[in-house]
Amino acid sequence: MTFSDAWADVEVRHAATADRKFLSLFDDTGRADTFRCDTSDMRLDYSKTNIDAETRDALLALADAADVAAHRDAMFSGQKINQTEGRAVLHTALRNLDGGPVLVDGTDVMPGVLDTLGRMGVFADEIRSSHITDVVNIGIGGSDLGPAMAVQALSPYHDGPAVHFVSNVDAADVSDTLRGLDPKTTLVIVASKTFTTVETMTNARTARAWMSEGGGDPGTQFAALSTSEDGTSQFGIPHERVFGFEDWVGGRYSLWGPIGLSLMIGIGRRGFMAFLRGGQAMDLHFQAAQGAENMPLMHALVGIWHNQFCGHATRAVLPYDQRLGQLPAYFQQLEMESNGKSVRMDGSDVPVHTGPVVWGAPGTNGQHAFYQLIHQGTRTIPCEFMIAAQGHEPDLEHHHHLLVANCLAQSEALMRGRSTDEARVLMREKGFEGAELDRQAAHRVFSGNRPSVTLAYPKLDPFVLGQIIALYEHRVFVEGVILGINSFDQWGVELGKELATALQPVVEGAQTADGKDGSTQALVDFVQRHRVP
Ligand code: F6P
Repeated sequence: MTFSDAWADVEVRHAATADRKFLSLFDDTGRADTFRCDTSDMRLDYSKTNIDAETRDALLALADAADVAAHRDAMFSGQKINQTEGRAVLHTALRNLDGGPVLVDGTDVMPGVLDTLGRMGVFADEIRSSHITDVVNIGIGGSDLGPAMAVQALSPYHDGPAVHFVSNVDAADVSDTLRGLDPKTTLVIVASKTFTTVETMTNARTARAWMSEGGGDPGTQFAALSTSEDGTSQFGIPHERVFGFEDWVGGRYSLWGPIGLSLMIGIGRRGFMAFLRGGQAMDLHFQAAQGAENMPLMHALVGIWHNQFCGHATRAVLPYDQRLGQLPAYFQQLEMESNGKSVRMDGSDVPVHTGPVVWGAPGTNGQHAFYQLIHQGTRTIPCEFMIAAQGHEPDLEHHHHLLVANCLAQSEALMRGRSTDEARVLMREKGFEGAELDRQAAHRVFSGNRPSVTLAYPKLDPFVLGQIIALYEHRVFVEGVILGINSFDQWGVELGKELATALQPVVEGAQTADGKDGSTQALVDFVQRHRVP
């Protein structure tokens, strides 16, 4: 079947089912067992959507027509699928712990990967048993969001020095983070794939000055994570404290290698290896599981269904896991930097909308903030709930029961809703009558029919976190293949960087704002006039 025929078939399914109340699909009592994917220990339930067997078949046919399996194999085997940068995409090699060789340009990359992993382990052990009390990771984007998210997620396993993160060029970030730390017992890790990112290099220089002035020794208390040997040596970081990686690891996919060093120092070598094992397990599942059994594939198809066919422009990531508080931000980069594109691989315009806006916050907090719009707003927001069967606080199990009940209640409420008749009964019980009864009832109606998926896992440990991250990586990959875009470049961040570089001397007053638009000129003028002289 051609891709356009497969696409048209899904459109037909959408047209045929759009007005249906999908709660009625549960009249088929096997639905919950059928519209889900399991790995050895995780479950993705997508039964609370409008997808039925025919729609799923059409979506799977779409994946076949897009040749997802061939693209997947090309990625795992080191082909240069990042065609605009001429690069392989091999973050999977970083967790291919006991797998076979992975060739790039005919050379096996695995010996290098394992050697660096071994060096990271030795270094992490040294730091963990040294006088170092605090580690500051300075990086931004993929050199910050991944480790920052994972360090918080795995805090119950953290038995190393305290780990802090500085990312923003706003001096507030570095000042607030370094205040209270001892320059003599702090390790600074400069994390930057390119070692040119202005925010990171500015913060790194500020931290170096802070350390020197405070009696620490940047010569021995700085390490670097980068693909740039020149950049790290020019900064003065000795070779033995540089952990390198190759250009086939994209920034937002780099947590699995040296960029994960702060996590490894925090949770130790064993914990980090369990995290890699989780990622590897998801890789093996993604490569082996067939059709509807394949969790990343089905997660992607549900995403494509909601965004490209149903027209829901955003998706909410709602972990009922406080320690996954930074997961929505991490997924924002993973999904929006990967699939926020307008042209296909061949440069032609993508004829449909591409990546959705991704946002969210942990439950239950979001319930008391933005869920109002999710339940009763005019837009449908597909929700992605996440919940662990167990918490890490056995003495406080009643908290966890409440957490689980809230998570499950939200997806049920979104699907079920509350009809006008039900709302009227409620209001009548409260004593309302006549026109006021109608008015009050209208405010208490929930349309329902709002889709969600739920990812359930036993406990947020390093292995499970590795699986979750790899699941989403592959989900983004499959969506990108179906859209025909390159999920592995990020040209959209460049223009703003170029203009910022050009504006810096203007803001400093060394150049005029001549030639800039009127708005920019006026804002520069405002800032200059209100600056402390
Ligand atoms: O500006 C976007 C970006 O290039 C991301 O893709 C990347 O994760 C981030 O900046 C940081 O880049 P680097 O690790 O090279 O400092």
